[in-house]
Amino acid sequence: MRAFFVHTALLVLSFSVESFAWGEHGHRTVGYLARLYFTPNGEALFNELLAPTAMFDISDGAVWADDHGVQIRMPFSKPWHYIDAKDDPPDNCTIVYSTDCDPDKHCVIAAIVNMTSRVNNQALLKQEQSNAFKFLLHFLGDVTQPLHTEEKCKGGNNLMVQWGPLNSPREKLHQVWDSLIIQKLIGYKRPTSPDPNNVYDKSLARTWAAELKTRIDAGLLAAPTALECININTPEKCALKWAGEANKLICSYVLKDGKNLGRDRNNDDCRWEWHGPEDVSKEYYQGAVPIVEAQIAKAGYRLGAWVNALAEQRSVMRRNGITFDEGSLRVQGRLDL
Ligand SMILES: *[C@@H]1O[C@H](CO)[C@@H](O)[C@H](O)[C@H]1NC(C)=O
Ligand SMILES: *[C@@H]1O[C@H](CO)[C@@H](O)[C@H](O)[C@H]1NC(C)=O
Repeated sequence: MRAFFVHTALLVLSFSVESFAWGEHGHRTVGYLARLYFTPNGEALFNELLAPTAMFDISDGAVWADDHGVQIRMPFSKPWHYIDAKDDPPDNCTIVYSTDCDPDKHCVIAAIVNMTSRVNNQALLKQEQSNAFKFLLHFLGDVTQPLHTEEKCKGGNNLMVQWGPLNSPREKLHQVWDSLIIQKLIGYKRPTSPDPNNVYDKSLARTWAAELKTRIDAGLLAAPTALECININTPEKCALKWAGEANKLICSYVLKDGKNLGRDRNNDDCRWEWHGPEDVSKEYYQGAVPIVEAQIAKAGYRLGAWVNALAEQRSVMRRNGITFDEGSLRVQGRLDL
């Protein structure tokens, strides 16, 4: 039974791509970019809590939260990837934390707060600290994806648009923002042979991360605004600010041309009249590129600083005689059951 189950899970993994996060390339890039900013202490924390190998690097850590194995073991983590602003685009984009984060505090902001406090919680097993670390690698990315901060049409999952010439299959607007814009920008082509270790995806992400770093360091992208709130002692304030910034992009660009036909009646509903261009892979794509670049750049930059700050905190705790669990980590892998 066990063997059968694992086999089935592998099939699921290869053939279905869920869309509820910056896609694989976005998250991998955020991971690589963050690592380019790690201090020696940040690097040490990464080594301690991720135990990277040739097969499981920082970018694998950054996509781990979307892994089907994780989804199966921790189904309760699904709502941690977003916050549903119940606002009124395109006229009013606003997050109201008290009502938009569900009553049990299952949303990306609460998750960032929770995971930030768990990484250096000496009462937790190292494996739990490691999981919190990997969740952070992911959520600091997700909170910058505009459609992860919007309830309308289930964050664009129920809003179908045309990507490419007429007769192209229609795509979820959410998927356009998670993956398709990025894939077009970085020149992704669907591989013709199997690539179980994601060598190709990783090399595209590594290259993009290096380009973004050059532009950030030249002051051309992200850094000044990204730096406005990087304080692990006020995670709720910072995560709310980051989410608010992403949510404003819903009104200023993502859903700017359209008409809200009222609150969606249920999860599968989409009361929205799309007035944007017919084919979103042209002008709409062109206009989205600088937004996506800035959002990914900010995510990576902030994540680097966040990890460095957590590493400092851990060093101080150690100097003060606090000990952390020295247990070993489970063997890592895409299928972390
Ligand atoms: C915008 O939406 C928020 C949240 O729904 C609401 O509190 C606020 O009053 C609205 N602002 C305007 C100008 O309508
Ligand atoms: C924080 O994360 C832990 C571990 O995943 C989870 O059990 C707990 O419910 C979370 N707490 C909140 C407030 O979300």
